[in-house]
Formats: sequence, structure tokens, C-alpha cells
Amino acid sequence: MPDDSRPATRKLAYETKLSHIGRPPKKGAKAQVNMPVIRASTVTFPDVAMLKAARERRFDQWGSYGIHGLATHHALEDIVAEIEGGDRCAIQGSGLAAIVVAMMAYLKAGDHCLVPDSVYGPCRNLCDTLLKGFGVETTYYDPLVNEAGMAALIRPNTKVVYTESPGSHSFEVQDVPGIARAAHARGAKVLMDNTWGIRTFQPFTHGVDLSIQALTKYVVGHSDVLLGSVTVKAADWPAVKIAQGTLGQFASPDDCWLALRGARTMAVRMKRQEQSAMEVARWLETRPEVLHVLHPALPSHPQHALWKRDFTGACSLFGVVFHKRYSMAQVDTLIDNLALFGIGASWGGFESLALPTTGNITRTATSDDLGGPTMRLHIGLEEPADLIADLEGAMAALGG
Ligand SMILES: Cc1ncc(COP(=O)(O)O)c(C=O)c1O
Repeated sequence: MPDDSRPATRKLAYETKLSHIGRPPKKGAKAQVNMPVIRASTVTFPDVAMLKAARERRFDQWGSYGIHGLATHHALEDIVAEIEGGDRCAIQGSGLAAIVVAMMAYLKAGDHCLVPDSVYGPCRNLCDTLLKGFGVETTYYDPLVNEAGMAALIRPNTKVVYTESPGSHSFEVQDVPGIARAAHARGAKVLMDNTWGIRTFQPFTHGVDLSIQALTKYVVGHSDVLLGSVTVKAADWPAVKIAQGTLGQFASPDDCWLALRGARTMAVRMKRQEQSAMEVARWLETRPEVLHVLHPALPSHPQHALWKRDFTGACSLFGVVFHKRYSMAQVDTLIDNLALFGIGASWGGFESLALPTTGNITRTATSDDLGGPTMRLHIGLEEPADLIADLEGAMAALGG
């Protein structure tokens, strides 16, 4: 929701925006720097005319009921819309809820959607269960498809082309602009899970229509809140808000407040985590046990050139493929031996995590063989030298 009392922020550096957007209006007396938690189901009005006016503008400002979001939600929506470069943002109760809202905004019985084979697992589950039951057909495509290849996959009833770049287990970088050109030429909407690319991939300059974020990750940044968002340009705003309202989706204002706190420090956290992850990834590349490090910012990554073209940086999530001579059981033991890495599925927090990935990924259109047993690392705010020493010690499990 635009705040006219603050200067236009579009031209400011991203770090400056994170300090200034979504704060209480500058006009008038100000009791606090941060937006307070506004908790309300009921919104009351001095007269019926004002209630009716609030109903009319429920997509734009405070509505007539808490489900439409109140000031704490709107503050977070403003900040995420700026980070993503969109016009409007709708906050959801989790990243997965954001995926559901975005899909339901543009799919109905008889429609077809295209989803990359590398997609986040629960999105595949949505397609294979609920959407299928509602009469929506999904085709999984090779995430490395080019523009012509995508054009060939689109059918007259294809309404959604979903993207996620890079995939959060196999780390293929997609040609999102090419895919978007093919989709738009045939009237389909382009959805993207841009969680990995937050701050470094501008979805709307690369052809995306609906950008999904799991704010749970780097925006929250402390592994204690689930939240998601769908950000759009103005033309797609009504469809997203109608889907959200129809599905009864709502995020707690307390959680939004925690995410606002996280957003204030996200720039410094992410810069540090990006650098630390590169240091750990480069070290892993030198190890004889390691076949590939799946990190798009490494020149050895097969889509490094594409990443350089479209991204301005990286986050701190990447994969490690060990040589085939090791078993997945040995890699599991390596992970068990780590002292500083938690064993867990999420990412984006201040703490490092390791996750065995081989055997946990479903692929139906392309091979799931990455060349050997694989683990995923999330690098937190620890000193990289300590993390490297931890990994080096744990590698004894592989026996050289
Ligand atoms: C790539 C990706 N997208 C979306 C999500 C879903 O986010 P949430 O956990 O907030 O539902 C996740 C969670 O792990 C994820 O890794």
C-alpha cells in the first residue's frame, strides 16, 4: 500500500529501502520506529457509509474484516513488493500457501500447466493431487528447456508455466526470459518460485507475472516463522487477491511483524552468507571426494553463464555431489558427524544446515542421477573457516 508521506524509494539502493519501507507514516506524532502488531478480526466503522467504502477498496487498503490484512501485513507487503520489483504483494501463511494461491489464481478445470521437473516437492504434490482432482492437467518439463522447446510444449489450454530457478535440490538455472517469451506468445501466465533468487533476481524484468517467495527463508532469517508471498504487477493483483480471499488464506500479524524485523537486517545477513557459501563451495571443489559442487555462481556450474546473465548474486544454498565410489549411507554418516550443521530441510536462517538429498527427490521427466550421492548445504552466519574444519573432520566418514 503506497505511503504518500514518504519519499519515492524506487531509486534508492536495496539496503536503504530495507531500512525505510514499511515503517509507520512520517506524518504526525510517531510513537515508534517500527510498525506495531495490529491484531484484529473485527474492524468497526463510525457509520455504514464508511463500512461500504471499506468493502469497496478491500483490495487496496484496510478492508472491512481482518482477513483482508491490516497495517502490519501491509507494511510487510510493501517491503516485499519493493525487494521483488513488483507493484503489489499478498502475504500468505507459508511459502507453500503462496504457491497454492498463485496456482489457483489462474487455473481451473480443463486447464493445463507446465511445471519444471526440478520443482519443490510439495508443489509437485499439489499438482498431482488437488489440482489433478479439480481437472487441471500437469506436464513436467526439463528445467533446461529453451524458448523453442517451451513453445513446443504449450497447448491451447496451457494457462500457467511454472518456473523455479535454480531448483532447490539439483540447482539447474532456467532460461526464465526465454520460457516467458514462449509462454506470453501463447497467452499463458508465468509463475516463479523466486525464493533462491530473492534480492539477486528481478522477476518482473525477466518476464515473470507472479513471483512467489517463501519468506520463511531469508526474509524471516531466524528459522522460527513460516510465511510466503505472491508479488505481481498491477494487472495481476485482482486475480491474486480473489484467490487468496476465496481460499481464506491469512497470515498472523505477529509473524508479519517478525518478518519485518528480519527484513531490516536481510541485506547484511545475505551478503555475508553469500560470501561464506562461496568460500565453503570453493573449498569443497578442491576436495578429492567431491565430484561436483552444484552452485550456479561457480564457473564450473553448467548454467554459470545463464546465472551471470540474469542474476546479480547468489544466496547460500547449494548442493554437493560426491563420487560414485561412495554410498549414500557413507554420506549420511558424514552428515551425522557434522557438529556445526543442523540436519534439517529448511534454509535461509542464521544457522548452517545439511540435508541428504539423494533418494528424496521425485523426477518424472528427466533423470534424478546427479552423478553420485548428494547432500545439500545451507550456509549460515558462522565463520566459514569453522564450517570448513567441521566438514573436513566429518569427511573421515568417507574413508578417503
Ligand atoms: C524452494 C522452496 N519453495 C517454497 C518453499 C515453501 O516454503 P514454506 O516452508 O514457507 O512453506 C520451500 C520450503 O522449503 C522451498 O524450499
